[in-house]
Amino acid sequence: MSECRYYTQGMKRVLIKHLLKSESEISEVLIQGWVRTRRDNKAFSFLEINDGSTVSSLQVVADAGIPGYERIGEMSTGAAVSIKGALVTGQGRQKWELRATELELVGSAPESYPLQKKGHSPEFLRSIAHLRPRTNLYGAVFRMRSRLAASIHRFFQERDFAWVSTPIITASDCEGAGEMFRVTTLEVGDTASKDETKDFFGKAAYLTVSGQLEGEAFACALSNIYTFGPTFRAENSNTTRHAAEFWMVEPEMAFCDLQGDMEMAEAFIRFLVADALENSPEEVEFLNKFVDKGLVQRLEHVRDTPFVRCSYTEAVEILQQSGKKFDYPVTWGINLQSEHERYLTEEHFKSPVIVYNYPKEIKPFYMRLNDDGKTVTAMDVLVPGIGEIIGGSQREERMDILVDNIRKAGMNEEAYAWYTDLRRYGSVPHAGFGAGFERLLMFITGVSNIRDVLPFARTPKNCEF
Ligand code: 4AD
Ligand code: MG
Repeated sequence: MSECRYYTQGMKRVLIKHLLKSESEISEVLIQGWVRTRRDNKAFSFLEINDGSTVSSLQVVADAGIPGYERIGEMSTGAAVSIKGALVTGQGRQKWELRATELELVGSAPESYPLQKKGHSPEFLRSIAHLRPRTNLYGAVFRMRSRLAASIHRFFQERDFAWVSTPIITASDCEGAGEMFRVTTLEVGDTASKDETKDFFGKAAYLTVSGQLEGEAFACALSNIYTFGPTFRAENSNTTRHAAEFWMVEPEMAFCDLQGDMEMAEAFIRFLVADALENSPEEVEFLNKFVDKGLVQRLEHVRDTPFVRCSYTEAVEILQQSGKKFDYPVTWGINLQSEHERYLTEEHFKSPVIVYNYPKEIKPFYMRLNDDGKTVTAMDVLVPGIGEIIGGSQREERMDILVDNIRKAGMNEEAYAWYTDLRRYGSVPHAGFGAGFERLLMFITGVSNIRDVLPFARTPKNCEF
């Protein structure tokens, strides 16, 4: 491998991100990356090299005749190269450029390389999801994704939350919506496939829709925990905000009520937004220029302004008095649709808003019943451009009411005996929420389709790569 050869010569590759921030010229440096463009003159060539460490490429000037120049013709768009040279003051727009002293072609890219030009449609780029991270936009999005994951861990770790990796294969349906993928080793069409006791686990198993229930068990031991991992939903919603495989962040806090839950959700989002503005300025600036011209302004607003709180009942009144014609008419008791959520956050409040105390009929069995007997302590955080980004609640800690809910929901009481045990032994008021990681990323990058913030998106009828 060429890289090893350079390493044995005692030279270490430097990422372009660091070179562009250099304070002074560097007499000898090694870069490795992919050619974005190349222009040849008689006596020298210009190459734009990108190594994925930052949005910007580094301009390289290579004089004809330096070692390796004989293969310059093969160093076309998409080719991988290793280049030694001196970092000197740039003659063009950039502060720095590289005066090459030695070139090496590591891997060529024939003309069939699909990213010859800029400006491909997102649809086309989705069809080459294995190559699209090499574009500026997807490079920025996926660096942001990585940064956001680290910030999420930091937010909770700094607050003494323990990370729990709740199981991906589970026998419980947390949301009770029946949107689970079955996990089985039985053959399709096999008569045995109808007999769950013959299956791998001796019973039906699924991919988890949420780590919450298992998270509650750990919160009722370690006090403050969070889960952060993949979740799966077999819901057939072909929208720009739904994926069949997505990641969820789920904190769970013992000795916490709805109020504390809402405070934590707001602090969480504002922390992540402030972190992105502070620590990913190049990506944010790039996304603001090419994806969403209002991005920086919106992020700064979210960072600096407290979220609105509004009960479900108030929200229904606002929607009814809005004079707007919605596809789904608004009456007390309906599940708020995306059009309603977006009206509230984008047009009415013009700010993130937390809607709380929803009708019990439209919410899952585990949410705590309010004294009015009609509503539960649910809360959804709605943000402009997306709608629901977080869903959470205070949990029902009273054994009798919880068991009643389980029965009424037609769930198997025995299968949830472990969960009701948490109420039998040292039950405490506790609360938590689930934040869609991709929705957070969409919000922070301004990217409007969930397919474009997932490395390899899984949506109905689409499981390529
Ligand atoms: O509102 P949801 O369904 O809540 C729960 O699953 C709770 N058990 C969470 C908890 O209290 N611990 O999902 C939580 C969030 C949503 O607000 C949304 O951001 C995201 O998960 N989400 C999805 N993201 C992408 N694709 C999907 N199909 C999603 N479904 C939910
Ligand atoms: Mg929800």
